[in-house]
Amino acid sequence: MSAEISGSKSTRREFGKSLSAMLAAAYVSPKLIQGVAGGRLKGFSRADAILINSNENPYGPSPHAIAAITGSEGVACRYPDDLYARAKQSIATLHKVQTENIALGCGSTEILRVCDAAFVGPDKNLIVAEPTFEAVTYYAEVSRAKAVKIPLTSDFRHDLPAMASACSNGTGLVYVCNPNNPTGTINTRDEFAGFLAKVPASTYVLVDEAYFHFVEDPRYSSVVDMIPHHPNLIVTRTFSKVYGMAGMRLGYAVAQKQTIAAMRPQVLFDNGNAAVLAAAVASIDDPEIVPVNKKRLNDTRKWVTGELTKDGHRVIPSEANFFMVDIGRDVTPVIQAFREKKIMVGRKFPSMGTCLRVSVGKPEEMRAFLAAFRQIVPAAQKSAA
Ligand SMILES: Cc1ncc(COP(=O)(O)O)c(C=O)c1O
Repeated sequence: MSAEISGSKSTRREFGKSLSAMLAAAYVSPKLIQGVAGGRLKGFSRADAILINSNENPYGPSPHAIAAITGSEGVACRYPDDLYARAKQSIATLHKVQTENIALGCGSTEILRVCDAAFVGPDKNLIVAEPTFEAVTYYAEVSRAKAVKIPLTSDFRHDLPAMASACSNGTGLVYVCNPNNPTGTINTRDEFAGFLAKVPASTYVLVDEAYFHFVEDPRYSSVVDMIPHHPNLIVTRTFSKVYGMAGMRLGYAVAQKQTIAAMRPQVLFDNGNAAVLAAAVASIDDPEIVPVNKKRLNDTRKWVTGELTKDGHRVIPSEANFFMVDIGRDVTPVIQAFREKKIMVGRKFPSMGTCLRVSVGKPEEMRAFLAAFRQIVPAAQKSAA
């Protein structure tokens, strides 16, 4: 059997060789890929499991979004140009900017990839916190860029002064995840103002606000309104979290016009599907979806973290729909023990190897989690409070 590659006939073995060569050329560790993907279920179906491993929103999309998805069947056979324009307009109106300030992505993951493809490379490094959401580091590796990892502060927040000091003319991008995944911690508006003033103008700053909607700390704010003063600032958001549409895949970037223009060559044409674009417009128009989901997920987080704290465990204070609890020993066997009970908890973040990341599910799911936790993590293993 043969495979046609670039016009010449090759055997399957040759195809395999060239594929390996391609992969070697852009080598990315399988562990990293698995880490970013959050692992896959083996041995049982997702429908049977409690999924508190990927910071999803178990309540799903707004009823208005579901109606819009159903109604989008009439345009399913057409390219989604009109819906694309409407979704961009809704997002632009939400942020009080123009559509030229918006780029859509197949999830905000595409925006992270686009920023790496556009702004880092062999001679332009990436600066990230350690630990943080890994996708931007993964795609930097694909772009053959070095990632400089700056440890979190002792209270598990981005060390913005250290990150700014690490920037040089050879820095293409700094990534700040606020709130941070996996810790759920935040950096304040004032801290950002100082940070943005220090980062060189030639370095792009990518602020990932995937979990923006859950934050209650009054010192926090979005940095979207700082964009007019900072041509190098990009903010990314997603419909995967508070809007409950992780499976639908839509995220976006907000930035100055010329920054969006610099990203555009890396964005796939027609990267949004009709159903998700219609759902996004309906979600933005739904005044209930954000406050309702914010309240119920935050209430559940406060309840379950309160129980863990009462049990004597150290929980990192979180402003998001997930939290980390320090179990005082390697999380790997504990993750497996939960799995055996069909409860999927977050992956291990090696630099915080004793901290388990748990996403907030529905109250009944968190009751099951807590009961399992009390069996799996015996009292003698509790961390020092
Ligand atoms: C901080 C952060 N950014 C981006 C993403 C990717 O989200 P999506 O591609 O679904 O928009 C995630 C997913 O968990 C995340 O935690």
